[in-house]
Amino acid sequence: MTAGPFENLLVDRDGAVATITINRPKVLNALNTQTLDELRRAILDLAHDASVRVVILTGSGEKSFVAGADINEIALQTPTSGRTHAMTGQHVFDLIETMGKPVIAAINGYALGGGCELAMACTMRIAADSAKLGQPEINLGIIPGYAGTQRLSRLVGRGAALEMLLTGDQISAADAYRLGLVNRVVTGANLMGEARKVAQALAAKAPIALRFIIDAVNNGLQMSFREAENHEATLFGLVATTEDMREGTRAFLEKRKPEFKGK
Ligand code: COA
Repeated sequence: MTAGPFENLLVDRDGAVATITINRPKVLNALNTQTLDELRRAILDLAHDASVRVVILTGSGEKSFVAGADINEIALQTPTSGRTHAMTGQHVFDLIETMGKPVIAAINGYALGGGCELAMACTMRIAADSAKLGQPEINLGIIPGYAGTQRLSRLVGRGAALEMLLTGDQISAADAYRLGLVNRVVTGANLMGEARKVAQALAAKAPIALRFIIDAVNNGLQMSFREAENHEATLFGLVATTEDMREGTRAFLEKRKPEFKGK
């Protein structure tokens, strides 16, 4: 099914829900170039597989979601390779944001640096109560390079983002929830169950409408309000061409549950 085999990822399927697990537990699932490339291939593959409606992204082991970019590689960057490295990571995370299907980050532990940036590129974030989030790059004398400065300020606002980025401090899942950095906090034991519950609920919705909502929000945030309204209206018109629109409205009027086909 997927463009595997992967050395550093596990990809599982349960009906319409695919789960990608970053699997380098010895280094707390740090993202090296190979893992980023495997993630790119897995996301493209799941984006093109119409039988997949929702993706869950998590880290292997109890301790860490992703503890950042692999510092062994960061230490060797030159000005030119550093720029390419950042753009490569940005490209992979942009693919996650624009794949057209909800991607749920199940944050099972440390989500630091590139790990926090990866979670922020996802559509929703559910955290275990023991999770720690942060952008500690400043402590290495560097800055985030996978769009962390941009996604964090858009998610939590300029003031809280600057504090996290400048101090490099780790924050608790509870604080991340208060800031709007994560959508839900659950116990570690309930994390995957909650992620699957949300994923299954989204998998039953109309896939094209889901895709257009993600598009309207993410692209709309980069436009003026009037341009974004115009974009929303165009998508609203497009969704009116779908069989799912007819099924959804008819099912309501016939007092039954809709069955969406993604057409
Ligand atoms: N890159 C490469 N290796 C990493 C890593 C990263 N981002 N994060 C953790 N590791 C490795 C450690 O070097 C260690 O390897 P070792 O067993 O060969 O010594 C292993 O993972 C376990 O980490 P360790 O630091 O011993 O665990 P800890 O529980 O004491 O601390 C963290 C956990 C997450 C606080 C700590 O590992 C850390 O600060 N990691 C870096 C976070 C970071 O700065 N990320 C941004 C990178 S741009």
